[in-house]
Amino acid sequence: MIYAANFKTNHTRKSTENYIEDLQRKLVDKNEEDRVFIFPPLTALDAYEGDFIIGAQNAYPVESGAYTGEVGVEQLAEFNINTILIGHSERRDILGESQEAVAKKFAFFKEQGFEIIYCIGESLEIREQGLEAVIEHLVSQFEGIDTTYENFMVAYEPIWAIGTGRTASVEEITMTHDALKKVVDKPLLYGGSVKGANIAQIAAIDNVDGVLVGGASLKTETFLELVLH
Ligand code: 13P
Repeated sequence: MIYAANFKTNHTRKSTENYIEDLQRKLVDKNEEDRVFIFPPLTALDAYEGDFIIGAQNAYPVESGAYTGEVGVEQLAEFNINTILIGHSERRDILGESQEAVAKKFAFFKEQGFEIIYCIGESLEIREQGLEAVIEHLVSQFEGIDTTYENFMVAYEPIWAIGTGRTASVEEITMTHDALKKVVDKPLLYGGSVKGANIAQIAAIDNVDGVLVGGASLKTETFLELVLH
């Protein structure tokens, strides 16, 4: 299993340091084959060492240059970061990243050899139209994406399940992931209100290879409930 913690706009540099120190101590109990990723805010990036991988929640697809407010590969390289989240619904919907911009980012970071967690997901409106509409939408989010790139995985995060406490049902996740696996044969993470109370059920689904976690990842205790379940 893959366990990925997306801090979003939470935690400071200091609290991230404390978190990672605490996590590292307790990760000695995790299954060796499980992989843990932490995506802290950009201001908290550092060259942490341990049984986890630190990634960037976002970056601009450049080495360096005149892009006020953005960071490029040069800034990430300082901390040996070569893992990135691309296409998160919050970036698409709140920050206005188009599919074209997302695809450009993907192509750039692929060229750099980054490990990419590529996020897709549908709105409630689309989910209410049924599975076929959902899959059609999810497939459209692969437009311009090289799905043969070996160093990437997909995170399916239904927007209506993010931060709402409303997890997709086992049936919804199963059917969506089964359909997605036929489109992209890559590790598939589920995200959306994953927590201690539902991890066993979600992790037991065949085509769920891991989870991408927001709220429940913010404290080591609740994140470890997932990693060590
Ligand atoms: P929550 O776990 O808070 O629902 O967030 C999911 C998510 O968006 C992770 O990227």
